[in-house]
Formats: sequence, C-alpha cells, structure tokens
Amino acid sequence: MVMLTILIVLLSWAYGLEGADVVLSCSLIEEGGGMGGMMGGSMFKRTPSTLVFRDLVGNDDLSPELVTPYNPPETPNADDLIFELMLPSLQIPNADSLLHADCNEQEVVCEISRYVPRGADPDSLPAHFISSVQLEGSGLSLTLVLQTLSSETAESYTPPLMQSKLNLPLSQSGTLLTEVVFVVFSRVPSVMAPIGGDAVLDCGFKQKDSIPGQDVTLEWRLQHRGNGHKILDMKAREIETEVGSDVLVEREGTSAEADLLVRDGNASLTLRRLKVTDEGRYICTVGSGEFQTQQVVQLHITQPPRVTFSVEKLAFQDNTPQKLSCHCHRYYPLDVQVEWLSQPPFVEEPVSFSKESTLSSHQQHSDGTYSLSSHLILRPDEHPPGTVVTCRVSHSALDTPTNASLTVDKLEPKTAFWTGIVLMLVISVLFLYQAFKSTGEFHFLTLQ
Ligand SMILES: *[C@@H]1O[C@H](CO)[C@@H](O)[C@H](O)[C@H]1NC(C)=O
Repeated sequence: MVMLTILIVLLSWAYGLEGADVVLSCSLIEEGGGMGGMMGGSMFKRTPSTLVFRDLVGNDDLSPELVTPYNPPETPNADDLIFELMLPSLQIPNADSLLHADCNEQEVVCEISRYVPRGADPDSLPAHFISSVQLEGSGLSLTLVLQTLSSETAESYTPPLMQSKLNLPLSQSGTLLTEVVFVVFSRVPSVMAPIGGDAVLDCGFKQKDSIPGQDVTLEWRLQHRGNGHKILDMKAREIETEVGSDVLVEREGTSAEADLLVRDGNASLTLRRLKVTDEGRYICTVGSGEFQTQQVVQLHITQPPRVTFSVEKLAFQDNTPQKLSCHCHRYYPLDVQVEWLSQPPFVEEPVSFSKESTLSSHQQHSDGTYSLSSHLILRPDEHPPGTVVTCRVSHSALDTPTNASLTVDKLEPKTAFWTGIVLMLVISVLFLYQAFKSTGEFHFLTLQ
C-alpha cells in the first residue's frame, strides 16, 4: 500500500448550508499494468485519482472561514480521474474525522479499483468501484462500494465526454458521478488488550436500499504470520419482527449479535479471555444482497512487565564490585528496553550506566509472555552509600516507563555487628590480661 498524504483541498458550503465536501487524493489500482510498482514485480498499476465526498457531514461545528469551496476543473478533461461521491441516505459514522484529518496532518491511505457485484455482468452499466480509505491515528477505516450514476445529459445535444481510461461518461463538470451503495467500516481498526481481558473488534456496515428479510452474512477470520482461520461465521435475516440466524463459532468465548447485525449493521466481534495466540489481523467480511466486502481490524495483545531487583538491599563490604540484576517478568510483545541510572548523593542529575550492562536472552513462557534480565556490575567507588540505583523499563504496554530503585546502604549491619563483637572480645581480653597481670604480681609479691 502506498501512503498518500491527505489532500483536503476543499471543504465547501455546498449550496448554502447542506454540508461539507472532502477531497482525498487516491490511487486507482488496475490489474496487469506492465509498468508495475517501483518495488518491482508488481502486477498492479497505480494511477493518481481524486475522491470527492459531497456533503459528507453536517456543518454544525465548522466555521465558514475554514471552508473553501470545491471547484471542479474549468474545462473537463477526459484523462482526469475524479470520483464524485454522493451519499444519498448513508450516514458514514465518524465521517467528521475525515474533515479534521487535514488539520491534524494525518495520513490517509486511499485506493480505488473496479468491483463486480455478485451475479452481475462486469461490462454492464452501472459500473461499480470499491474504495478503501484509511485514516491514520483517528482510526476510521472505510471500504466503500460506489455505483456510477447516469449523468444529467439526457437532453443535451452533445454526447458526454468519455473518461479515457475507464470509458465511462463524465458529468458536465468532468467528474465520474457515483453514489455509495454499500460500506463496511471500522471506527477502531487497531485494538490493544491485555492477556485474560476481553476485546470488541468494531465492524459495521450500511447499505442503500437494503431489502427487508434478505440474508446478511458475516465472517470473521484471523490472519497471523501467514496462517488464516475462521473464527466466526454467521448468516442472519429478519423475518417479520424476529431475527433468525445460523452461527458457527470456532473459538471459545467468541460472539457476534445477529440482532445487532441485521437491525443496526453492527458486525462487531467480542473475544473473551484473550491469549497471546489471539493476536493478529482480523478480517470482517459482510455480505448483503449483491454486495460483499471486508474490513481489517488489528488486535494487539499487550502485557506490561513487572520489574524487580535480584536483591532487596545493597551494600559494599569492601572494594569488591557487586552484581545487580534487574528482572522484567512476563511481558508481551517481545520488545523491551532497560536503562540503568545511578544518582550519588548531592549529585543533581542521574548518570546512565546502560552501556555497562548486559542482557540475558529472552525467556518465553508457556502463555507466550517473555521475561528478561539485565545485569550491571556496580563498583563501590562509583556508587557510594546513599546512591540511588534505578532500573528503568520501557515497553509498548506502558504509557510511562516503570522504575525499580534501590539505595546503596552504608556498611552492612551484619558486618558492623561482627566488628563490634570482635572489638568487645579484644577489649575484654586486654582488660582481663591487665587484671590478671596486676593480681599475679600482687600475689607474687606477697609470697616473697
Ligand atoms: C456493537 O455490538 C457490540 C456487541 O457485539 C457492542 O459491544 C458495541 O458497543 C456495539 N457497537 C455499537 C456502535 O453499537
């Protein structure tokens, strides 16, 4: 996928107060283009194109100064690829995030290609296209099915201009007039959840002119490291006021709601008691009537490390260096960063000792989590008593690094105790010797 920077050039008060337009720069993808991608060997050809969402959202929170009107090219050009999208009755959820993407300098991936509805003749009119729009950061991801509209040229004498590449009639303003007839979307295409927790993978769909009582199919697949397998398969329909469904679940603690699917277009998947093996790309495929398309939701399992030291107290007996280990327990995913800091008393800034530390290899537990230790040799001259030694661990599951700290003690109390005992003994022996000597002398003298 090629990342294209968003190009919201135009927002307009179309016809006064109807809504705002959004313009995205997009790529038309065609199969079998000999020119290929720059990565080499690509069987797809990309052509720059433009997607214009007409009246995308209400204008409640837009100030008129922000809005620049969309002007179609002055002279229609048969080589231009401008897809003009009408959203008849379809409300795209969170569509306003498309409007704000420009201000937030978010990136948008937009691709468009030909689409053939189920059972349709590929060459018949109206023609169909499928477009995927992904907004980085804000988390909106859309897959739209577009259907060409016959343009308003019925009474005009001149035949319409034909788009050179697609051989489809252009509107008088030089755009390919289409309407969105089906959309599968996710408002949260990337989800993070801890081991043992639950996750709801958001997926939904909207359809123009859906026929009451028709089957809606939903399939969720998990794709991980090249392997794919089905998680859930559902077929549901509303008959009278009842929703009937056939459901096949391939993972324990998994559910989707047939009622919500048929009535609200909510195709979300709930996964309970998450394990590391649940991580991956989930593909939500919704089919209704002649349309079927999909949306990807990424599930990341995260577990923050627990950080401990190998000892509870640290003191130097003499000039012998001591080894201190910092253990990071049971985290996921694999990447973890360990930093060592030391701050002697009366020193303003801690000093980094990370370069002198060594790492153990990762240990993987049966639940898929990892543990690792970092070791540092502490020399007494560099870490006098009162020094605060810190092990700082950064991990993607942590918003801020976790610290473990230890203060270097004065001489170990045990050593002081033995030194005291020895001193006492020496003093006592000296005293007794003196006493013995004096009494001995006295005795000796009396004997004489
Ligand atoms: C969709 O359904 C799920 C339950 O399957 C629920 O948790 C979620 O909130 C629903 N989403 C919306 C937007 O209603």
